[in-house]
Amino acid sequence: MSRRRKVTVVGGGNVGATCAQVLAARDYADVVLVDIVENLPQGKALDINQMGAVLGYEPNVVGSNGYEETAGSEVVVITAGVPRKPGMSRDDLVTTNEKIVGSVTEAAIAQSPDAVLIVVSNPLDAMCHVAKNVSGWPKERVFGMAGILDTARFSTFIAWKTDSSVKDVTAMVLGGHGDQMVPVVSATTVGGIPLRKLVKEDEIEEMVERTAKGGGEIVELLGTSAWYAPGAAAAQMVDSIMLDEKRVLPCTAYLEGEYGIEGLYMGVPVKLGAGGIQEIVELELSEDEQTMLNESADAVREVVGVLTG
Ligand code: NAI
Ligand code: 2OP
Repeated sequence: MSRRRKVTVVGGGNVGATCAQVLAARDYADVVLVDIVENLPQGKALDINQMGAVLGYEPNVVGSNGYEETAGSEVVVITAGVPRKPGMSRDDLVTTNEKIVGSVTEAAIAQSPDAVLIVVSNPLDAMCHVAKNVSGWPKERVFGMAGILDTARFSTFIAWKTDSSVKDVTAMVLGGHGDQMVPVVSATTVGGIPLRKLVKEDEIEEMVERTAKGGGEIVELLGTSAWYAPGAAAAQMVDSIMLDEKRVLPCTAYLEGEYGIEGLYMGVPVKLGAGGIQEIVELELSEDEQTMLNESADAVREVVGVLTG
């Protein structure tokens, strides 16, 4: 029997399976992949295990339609739900995914009462509220993935525009995971040089706009939403928690006064380590950025208002 630590990924679709595969390749924890569709998580788990023989990783990946196998997980990633179809906004998903995320949270926490919950299902900010309400867990252990993905998109466009390595781009996208997200241009650098010194304002605006609509761009191309970058982004959060890395990463955290926002899940930089969120980091924002963040908060509040629970 394996004595490795355990991580559960609920939802064995595109994002969940990608996250499970990236985690398995990191080689420090077994992974349980749960889905309601019969045979799907079992089949994907088998495939990911066999990939280990090629890439050289050893964790055991188990697929299941129930939660027994998930018992004692240290982190549970929730990707269960319906993704966006062309023409659909993330908010259109709210009612369907509220029910799914609620039931999944209940089942997962019954088996792993000390876990950290990472929500991925959309509309992300609202689904974090659902997971927090249903679990009743402290905010340090219930939060969401979006900012790493949004920041990855912004960083990619910046690297292309400046003909630089994406490894030298430092960026941070805050706010709700919607079209009103807030790329913090004032804190964005390439090799330590402020973005505004390298790229003209109208070109920055174009990249900001493309980032904010980045999810929709992929939906239009593929007919469903992205999964490679989202799956890897969720796995990066798991790494920071499981390995107590204390990375400062943009995550969707419950704010109680930080950034002047009260009682709402929003994307902000947090220090992630053992036990979940160890600190919410308060960046100094320009006046324009704070105004954009407040507008993004209003948009999130509107979706949260649609929740039935
Ligand atoms: P998908 O359709 O490929 O996978 C979703 C899986 O959830 C399906 O396999 C489905 O059978 C399963 N599922 C549905 N109800 C379930 C339940 N009650 N229990 C267990 N499994 C259940 O969708 P995909 O592309 O993996 O996206 C998953 C979610 O993540 C969507 O809501 C999507 O909008 C969201 N998403 C969020 C991102 C973010 O930045 N936060 C980025 C990308 C996707
Ligand atoms: C994305 O940003 C749809 O939230 C998903 O790709």
